[in-house]
Amino acid sequence: MKQFRVGIIGATGMVGQRFALLLADHPWFKVTAMAASSRSAGKTYRDAVGARWAFKDMPMPEQFADIVLYDAGQDIEKMAAEVDFCFCAVDMKKDELRALEEAYAKAECPIVSNNSAHRFTPDVPMVIPELNDEHLAIIESQKKRLGTKRGFIAVKSNCSIQSYVPALHPLRKYGIKEVLACTYQAISGAGKTFERWPEMVDNLIPYIGGEEEKSEQEPLKVWGSIENGQIVKAASPLITTQCLRVPVADGHTAAVFVRFENKPTIEQIKADWAAFRGVPQDLELPHAPKQFIHYFEEPDRPQARLDRNLEGGMAVSVGRLREDTLFDYKFVCLSHNTLRGAAGGAVELAELLAAKGYFD
Ligand SMILES: NC(=O)c1ccc[n+]([C@@H]2O[C@H](COP(=O)([O-])OP(=O)(O)OC[C@H]3O[C@@H](n4cnc5c(N)ncnc54)[C@H](OP(=O)(O)O)[C@@H]3O)[C@@H](O)[C@H]2O)c1
Repeated sequence: MKQFRVGIIGATGMVGQRFALLLADHPWFKVTAMAASSRSAGKTYRDAVGARWAFKDMPMPEQFADIVLYDAGQDIEKMAAEVDFCFCAVDMKKDELRALEEAYAKAECPIVSNNSAHRFTPDVPMVIPELNDEHLAIIESQKKRLGTKRGFIAVKSNCSIQSYVPALHPLRKYGIKEVLACTYQAISGAGKTFERWPEMVDNLIPYIGGEEEKSEQEPLKVWGSIENGQIVKAASPLITTQCLRVPVADGHTAAVFVRFENKPTIEQIKADWAAFRGVPQDLELPHAPKQFIHYFEEPDRPQARLDRNLEGGMAVSVGRLREDTLFDYKFVCLSHNTLRGAAGGAVELAELLAAKGYFD
């Protein structure tokens, strides 16, 4: 595989730091530029991050420490000149973010984004690589709208849905009618550690702004279809969610209830999970887990501390599949929110884009 020069926009943040760790030894991608806000611009990565480095057991990769940060909004042309594409994970207002990502795309710098701003732009693919790689075809329509030759935006979905939507996906053939999902979300999902958010120790907060809307609507785009240059959301299933913040450092758990048109057996569901593989597994992408969905027979699994790092934090863990009194079945899912759910999912998406020639 060809080598690509990569930029990280929002490199100083929680997700940006994850990108730095994941890309330090990447076989295809070499980080050549970094950007953050004007507060960090002109500083070295080491100085700009300072005490915010979030990973006690994994130091900042030495090769990035002396990179001098650009201002993400002011230095677009400079960034675009030094990279083949950029990852983007910044905390900004949605309209500003939409404009920022489009400005990079129009500067012919493809953007692989963690941000939610463009998730419902109809010609922007929102891709979980194992589930809906076919949505990448919409990029041609997007490029026409933007008037670009190689610049485009591709996004990953919200971290909350990456625990339960992969588990539901191979069951769609049974006609999923209704889904109820309660998510129990880690504090790193808010860009926080316990040191920076001591109020979360011994606590639970029953509200994460905007999360329930994302958790209910984003699966429908992932399961949508391309019609007339747009991705049209799937009409079903009906999804309802409650999203809670819990005192866990990393790993979002979801308790899922599901009703089918044609109810499968427990054995069929377990067999579907065991057999499920997507294009990333076929292409052997560097960050693709070998087994995407791991089913645990033990009644007390999956657990965040034990199972979130399975296959480099890129696998989804499932357990406790059983009949329900109201729905057909219920089960519990877990995925690592800053790996599979954020930076890792974006790196896998970029690998898919690279393998399919979108960065050439
Ligand atoms: N954490 C997760 O698990 C997760 C999962 C999925 C998606 N996301 C999304 O990823 C994005 C980043 O999240 P995070 O948790 O990494 O946030 P974070 O730790 O608060 O980091 C925010 C980053 O944005 C930069 N930034 C802030 N204002 C900016 C501006 N005006 N111009 C340019 N850069 C600016 C910051 O730079 P400075 O250091 O210079 O301030 C920093 O690099 C958000 O959109 C979030 O919703 C997060």
